[in-house]
Amino acid sequence: MVGRFFHSQGAQESSTSDVLAQQKILRLDKYEAKNGQASGEEQKVADSGPDFVAERVALHRYLLERINLSILDTMEADEVREELRPLVRNYVKENNLPLNAAELDTLISDIGDEMLGLGPLEPLLADDTISDILIVGAGTVYVERFGKIELTRVRFKDEAHLMRIVNKIVAAVGRRVDESAPLVDARLQDGSRVNVAVRPIAVDGPQVSIRKFSRNPLSLQKLVSFGALAKGMAELLAAAVEAKVSIIVSGGTGSGKTTVLNALSSFIPHDERLVTIEDAAELQLQQPHVVRLETRPPTVDGRNEVLQRDLVKNALRMRPDRIIVGEVRGPEAFDMLQAMNTGHEGSMSTIHANSPRDAIARIEQMVGMAGMPMTQTAIRSQISSAVHLIVQLARLRDGTRRVVSISEIVGMEGDVVQLQELMLFKKIGLEEDGKIKGEFRASGLRPSFIEDLETMGIHLDPQIFNPSGPL
Ligand SMILES: Nc1ncnc2c1ncn2[C@@H]1O[C@H](COP(=O)(O)OP(=O)(O)OP(=O)(O)O)[C@@H](O)[C@H]1O
Ligand SMILES: [Mg+2]
Repeated sequence: MVGRFFHSQGAQESSTSDVLAQQKILRLDKYEAKNGQASGEEQKVADSGPDFVAERVALHRYLLERINLSILDTMEADEVREELRPLVRNYVKENNLPLNAAELDTLISDIGDEMLGLGPLEPLLADDTISDILIVGAGTVYVERFGKIELTRVRFKDEAHLMRIVNKIVAAVGRRVDESAPLVDARLQDGSRVNVAVRPIAVDGPQVSIRKFSRNPLSLQKLVSFGALAKGMAELLAAAVEAKVSIIVSGGTGSGKTTVLNALSSFIPHDERLVTIEDAAELQLQQPHVVRLETRPPTVDGRNEVLQRDLVKNALRMRPDRIIVGEVRGPEAFDMLQAMNTGHEGSMSTIHANSPRDAIARIEQMVGMAGMPMTQTAIRSQISSAVHLIVQLARLRDGTRRVVSISEIVGMEGDVVQLQELMLFKKIGLEEDGKIKGEFRASGLRPSFIEDLETMGIHLDPQIFNPSGPL
């Protein structure tokens, strides 16, 4: 059977799409040659391992000569594999390759991935238990599962192979990566966030870090069931979000900030207009009325950059009820505080900081970056009137991610922002298996906005503020 994406064998006339496909093949060949994929090199790799790498590369070529590439993009992966099957079988037969049925299936599946998607990364992308994929050069790929990093057997044929995949990723978002632009952020089609660093910045070859987009984002309830926070904490936070208490989620890299922000957002009433601002859209708000804005990096010649700050300013002209900034990292902190202080209570963001006190210091420093003529005391009083709650997250040594503190900003004393811890995670010791033992506790202090909650008809169980036992 001649599949619908194959060139008809032996036909003399060539249609426009055939010509286009030929051109694409030529370009691909040129590209491979440029990346050092000469056949001599292929042979060397094949000799060094039993995994038919050389055959695979040759097979790849064989298929490219027979496939109308221009139609590949329009087909589903399974369809492509089915269309590839007879061709691969032919090739295996013609070349007397000693493959059994299972090996043939694996080869077809691999070659399908290779031609369509992101090659060796495909199985990792398809595995929902993996949260991060970390490529440390062509020969080493780690993943993170359940908070722990593990080494995989996945590898790339060589650096050129990895670079081809990397280029595919960044080209899809209109960027390029090479010596002159060695650091690039990109996004996969499914929303996964990608950071790429290549030589000369990355000394040992291409480094790729992928934070996978979670298809089923964790709800606050799920986070409670994982032990990331106590039920009483979740109740307090849910009530605070509904009542438009402005919240900053603080934590280190990969501590779960975006996850918690996303989970909290589900308690925003559905009749509000929300504007989200992110560097790479990760948030998955469930409300019907959401305007999503994303920053834009500068073009190759350094033009047309759109910063978070531009977007926060713009958001204020869009009549939002709340503004949600994925992560404040710079001078947009100033505009965000303005927004929170001028009728956009309930706005939320995350910040990279290791404690609530540190979060305040970071905001202060970032507001300073906006270059406004403000005294330190003025900045601090802006912070204390704009931000109400700081939710501190941490990734603990045993790999678990937890809410380690919920603190309230209660005002200023002199020129110091006053913080009160309402709830916390208290470490008690270590389990035998190295897991950290601990419990969530209330401090005994009640939030100052509790009366506001009551007047809004939101009643919290007083027991959640009882410090005499675990929450
Ligand atoms: N409590 C949790 N239990 C298990 N996995 C979690 C938990 N919280 C978050 N994760 C997972 O950890 C990974 C990192 O989470 P997330 O992206 O929210 O972190 P982050 O602090 O925003 O990271 P970054 O600093 O890179 O922006 C995600 O894959 C997420 O699904
Ligand atoms: Mg994040």
